Amino acid sequence: MTGPHPTRRVFLIGFMGAGKTTVGKALARRLKWKFYDLDEFIENRERTSIPNIFSSAGESAFRIIESAALMELLKTTELSNSIIALGGGTFVQEKNREILQRPGTITVLLDAPLEELERRCNIGPGGRPLAQDREKFRELFGKRREAYDHAQLRIQTAGKAIERVAKEIEVLLSRRESAGREVAK
Ligand code: S3P
Repeated sequence: MTGPHPTRRVFLIGFMGAGKTTVGKALARRLKWKFYDLDEFIENRERTSIPNIFSSAGESAFRIIESAALMELLKTTELSNSIIALGGGTFVQEKNREILQRPGTITVLLDAPLEELERRCNIGPGGRPLAQDREKFRELFGKRREAYDHAQLRIQTAGKAIERVAKEIEVLLSRRESAGREVAK
């Protein structure tokens, strides 16, 4: 893809269970772009699992690690068009949102109703650190809505197949691309 900015990076954001990783992989395949998953990047960087980081160091330590990993991932992807799946809480930190406001960077919210996210996540002990308890999961969902509203694009994923969501994002991106070209003329 060509356009007003040489490198494109699309960041997928959304709550746990939104499908950031699965849709991200499908989208990267369609576009023939690279795919990165911030959670996986953190686990490789720290050489341990995310649940381990939460249980040994706590959530606030995880958030510091997450921001540092995001900065590193931005450097890693500087020269290649990439799709990057963030963690459910990454975009909630204002500092991270600011880091993502740079040319060539697009943020896409994968949205779904709470009931569907609950179905997609295995809520209960042993799962994701922040999906151990249904009440807390619901509360967190409510608290994060406002932060997620800062995404540049939004896709409703309820009841849609992964490929369909990926295709819809592809269409939105190419529309943006053509609009950008009009402006750049
Ligand atoms: C988190 C979501 C997880 C992971 C960590 C914290 C969150 O990622 O980053 O457990 O704060 O919502 P997924 O959204 O990919 O599950």
